[in-house]
Amino acid sequence: MRTKIVVGNWKMNTTVKEGIQLAKAVAAASSNVNGVKLIVAPPFTHLTLVKEALKGSNVELSAQNCANKESGAYTGEVAAKMVASTGATYVILGHSERREYYGETSEILLNKVKLALANSLKPIFCIGERLEERESSRHFEVVKAQLEEVAYQLDKTDFEKIVLAYEPVWAIGTGKTATPEQAQEMHAYIRKVLAEKFGSKAENTSILYGGSAKPSNAKELFSKADVDGGLIGGASLIADDFIAIAQSF
Ligand code: PGA
Repeated sequence: MRTKIVVGNWKMNTTVKEGIQLAKAVAAASSNVNGVKLIVAPPFTHLTLVKEALKGSNVELSAQNCANKESGAYTGEVAAKMVASTGATYVILGHSERREYYGETSEILLNKVKLALANSLKPIFCIGERLEERESSRHFEVVKAQLEEVAYQLDKTDFEKIVLAYEPVWAIGTGKTATPEQAQEMHAYIRKVLAEKFGSKAENTSILYGGSAKPSNAKELFSKADVDGGLIGGASLIADDFIAIAQSF
C-alpha cells in the first residue's frame, strides 16, 4: 500500500502571524482526516514557528525549496541542513515556478535532491509539461526526461525516500485541472518509467497530482489508481478546503 499524501504548498503567501493561524487551523482539523498524511509547506521564514503550531498533531512540515550548495557564502540561500534543523521533514523541489522563474535546471535540482536526502529531508520532486508541450504531444517525452535527469540518478535506497508530484504547468493556478483520466494516464506512465529503472520499488512511490485541485474535483482525481494524493496550492490557504481535499479519499 502506497502512502496517501496531501501537501499544502503555501507559495509566497501569508505573514508569519497568518501562517501560524493557518497551521493551527490545519492542526486542529487534522484529527478529522484518516489514512492520509498531511504536510504543510510554508515559506522559510515561518518554518520554526509553524512547527511549533503543529505540535500535538500528525501534520508534517515541508520547505518549498532549499539551496543547491551545502553552506557558505551564498547570500539569501537556505541550506537543506538549515531546513532540517527547523523540524521540517520534507522539501518541495523542482516546482515549475522554480524551474521557470529562477532557472532551476535538472543539474541544479539533482544537487538539491541529493543535499536534501543527505540531511534526512524527503524530497517532493515536481515534474510536468507546459501547455505547448502537451499541445504538440510531447508531454510524455518531457516528463520522462525530467525523471531520467534526476530520479534515475539516485540509488535505490534514496529513490525509495522520494515523493513525486505530477503538475502539468498549464493547470497550476489557472483553474484548469487535468481530467482524472489525463492525470491517471500520466501517473501510470511515470510509474512505468520509474519501474524501468527501479523495478518493483516504483510500486511503492507516492505520486501526487498538482494543479488547481480543490474540494470539488479532488474525489474524482483521487479515485484513480495511480493518483496517491495532491500537491495543493491556492486551496491550501483555506484550512477547511485543504482538509476537505484530504477527506476526499
Ligand atoms: P494550485 O497550485 O493548486 O494553486 O494550482 C499547485 C502547485 O503549484 O503546487
